[in-house]
This record gives sequence, C-alpha cells and structure tokens, in this order.
Amino acid sequence: MALAWQDYLTKILIDETRLQARIKEMGQQISVDYADKDLLLLCILKGGVLFLTDLMRQISIPLEIDFLAVSSYDKGARSSTGVVRILKDLEQPIYKRHVLIVEDIIDSGYTLAYIAQMLSARKPASIKICTLLDKKERREVNIAVDYVGFDIPNEYVFGYGLDLDEKFRNLPFIGIAKAV
Ligand code: IMP
Ligand code: MG
Repeated sequence: MALAWQDYLTKILIDETRLQARIKEMGQQISVDYADKDLLLLCILKGGVLFLTDLMRQISIPLEIDFLAVSSYDKGARSSTGVVRILKDLEQPIYKRHVLIVEDIIDSGYTLAYIAQMLSARKPASIKICTLLDKKERREVNIAVDYVGFDIPNEYVFGYGLDLDEKFRNLPFIGIAKAV
C-alpha cells in the first residue's frame, strides 16, 4: 500500500480555519483594490489551484480567470532548478489587462521572476503578485510581492495545492514535511 500523508507529516503549520480566514481577508482587500478595474486572475498550475478557487469566491467584483502551467523542479526535487519551462500558456492576450498572478508559494523567487518578466513583455495594464505563502528566508532574486497570505519558515510544506512528489495536493491544510 502507498504511504499516507500522515507518514510524511511533521506537524500542521496552518490549519483549514486559519487558511480560510486569511483568504477571506485577502479576497476582500483585492475587491477594494481592483474595484474600478477589469481583473484577470492568473493562476499558476498546479500548486495555485486550490488557492485560486477559494480566493475567487471571496472576491466580490467581476473577474476572469486564466491558467499558466510551469515547471521549475526536477521530478522529486525539493528546490527550484532556476530553469523554468512553460508547460501551458495563457488562452488569452493580456495586453492592457489588469493581471493578478495567483501563486501557492514563493521560495527562491526564480519561477515568479521569470513569469513576471515574460508577461510584462505582453504589455498588460498592470501586473501584481498574490501568493498564499512566502518563504522569505530562501529568496535569491528580488521580486515585489503585492499580497502575501502567510510568511512561513524555511521548511518544505505540502497540502492545499502544494505537492510532495506530486501527491497530497488535496489536503485542506498546510503541513510541514519530514526532512529527507
Ligand atoms: P521558486 O522558483 O524557488 O520560488 O519556487 C516556486 C515553486 O516551487 C512554487 O510555485 C512551488 O510550486 C514550488 N515550491 C517551493 N517551495 C515549496 C514547498 O515547500 N512545497 C511544495 N512546493 C514548493
Ligand atoms: Mg510544486
């Protein structure tokens, strides 16, 4: 039998109640900040998908969504390679759109720095970053993050969209993984 998430968990870092309460606040803030703008939420697959679906339910203004799939890890690895591959591009042009990138976690920053630069070249009206988690201690490239759910310590986390070797994205909380 495959191992269960309990076998990999050190402890729960952010439980479901805290996650949802913070996401509600973030949604309310975004609704105010973008009240007079035509908002496009751009979800980074796969990790951002749970965050996107909960966040968008807490935003009260009209919005559209689109998806970008990237890969910055080698399979099984626990840190970015720095080389980002686009696995799926956006469906629509973002020229003159107000784009808010929705990401699960910022670690070294390489992934978002690459994505932000690539998207800026398409001349959106604005481009901002909303991340659920920020592992600031690990930052290697300087990027401006506009909305942060939680600052977290330098630990490998999983659940709520984040994977452990592609598994356990479905958990409704964020847990700290055992060291390997
Ligand atoms: P960065 O390029 O180092 O900032 O890595 C960002 C990407 O790595 C995120 O979008 C996540 O998919 C993944 N990642 C970084 N830290 C973790 C973690 O602790 N657990 C799961 N995935 C992570
Ligand atoms: Mg990942």
